[in-house]
Amino acid sequence: MFDLQDFSKNIRNWYNIHKRDLPWRNTNDPFKIWLSEIILQQTRVSQGLSYYMKFTNRFKNVKHLAEASEDEILSMWQGLGYYSRGRNLRKAAIQVMEEYNGNFPTCSKELKKLKGIGDYSSAAIASFSSNEKIAVVDGNVYRVLSRLFGISIPIDSSSGKKEFNDLANTLISSKYPAEHNQAIMEFGAKQCTPKKPLCNECIFSNNCEAFHLNSVFKFPIKSKKIKKKSRYFHFFLDIKDDKILIEKRRDKGIWANLYQLPLIESEKEETQKTKPIFETKHLLSHQKLYCSFYKSDTSDEKNRIRVAVNELENYALPVVIDKFLKQYFN
Ligand code: ADE
Repeated sequence: MFDLQDFSKNIRNWYNIHKRDLPWRNTNDPFKIWLSEIILQQTRVSQGLSYYMKFTNRFKNVKHLAEASEDEILSMWQGLGYYSRGRNLRKAAIQVMEEYNGNFPTCSKELKKLKGIGDYSSAAIASFSSNEKIAVVDGNVYRVLSRLFGISIPIDSSSGKKEFNDLANTLISSKYPAEHNQAIMEFGAKQCTPKKPLCNECIFSNNCEAFHLNSVFKFPIKSKKIKKKSRYFHFFLDIKDDKILIEKRRDKGIWANLYQLPLIESEKEETQKTKPIFETKHLLSHQKLYCSFYKSDTSDEKNRIRVAVNELENYALPVVIDKFLKQYFN
C-alpha cells in the first residue's frame, strides 16, 4: 500500500487534469453550493445541471427562496423525485432568514441544524464554501475507498459508516480540503464508476486492493438487500369542459403535497370494474408502483380542483402522472 500522505496529492492531481467545469465549482457562495448539493443528492450531474440553473436564476439569494411558495418550489422541482428535498429547501431558507439573519452558515456544525442537511451535505457545503477540513462521505467515496483499501465491512452498518468516515478524514488534505473533496467525488463519478471502472488506466491500479484481488465489482459491500414494496395505484381521469380534476396529496411519504389525479390504492393486484386506458410500472428506491389510469366522469369534486390542461404546468405532478397526461393530451 502506498503512503497515505500521497493519496490526496495524487487524487487532486488527477482532478486538476480531468475535472468537469461545473457552475457550482466556480463559486464559494454557500447558498449556491447548498442548492447544488441538495439538487445533486440521488441525482446525476447531467440531470441536475438544468435544475441548478433554473433555481439560481429564479432565486438570487436565500431571501428570495424563503419568500417563495411551497407550490412554486415543488413545481420547479418536478421530475427530480425525492420531493422532501424540495420541501426542505424552503424550510431551511426560512430558518436561515429567521435564525441567521439571512447569512447562510458555512460551518458544518451550524449547517447540520438546517432542515434537510445531514452529515454529507454539511461537510460538502462547509468544505466548498469555507475550506473547512471535513471529509465528505457519499456513494462515490464509499466505492473508491472500499475498492482501493479492500474494505469488506458493509457500508450500511453503523460500524462501517464510522470506519469509512474515519478513513476519509485521515486521508483529507489539511491545506486543500475543498479540492480534495471535489476530487474524490469526481474520481468516483468519472474513473472508479460502479459498472465500468477504468481500471486499466487508473493512477491507483498498482495499489488497489480490489483490482489485485480481481474483485472490483464486489465492492462496496452492503449487508441488506432492499425488498421493494409493491403498491397498486388506480388513477381516474375526469374531464369536464377541457378541465381535469386533480387533488393535493396530503399524506406523508411519497409525493406529499404534490398534485395527483383522484386515486384509489389497492393492497393487491385487484382489477377495477372498468378497463384501464393506460398501465405502467414506476420504480422508486423502496417501492414498486403499478399504476393504472381510467376514464371517469363520476368523481367526487370535494377537496379537489378543476384545472385547464394548459395550466397544469403550474402544478407539481409526479412524473408518472405528468407523462400519462402529456401522452393523453398531445
Ligand atoms: N455530486 C454531489 N456533489 C457534487 C459536486 N460538488 N460536483 C459534482 N457532483 C456532485
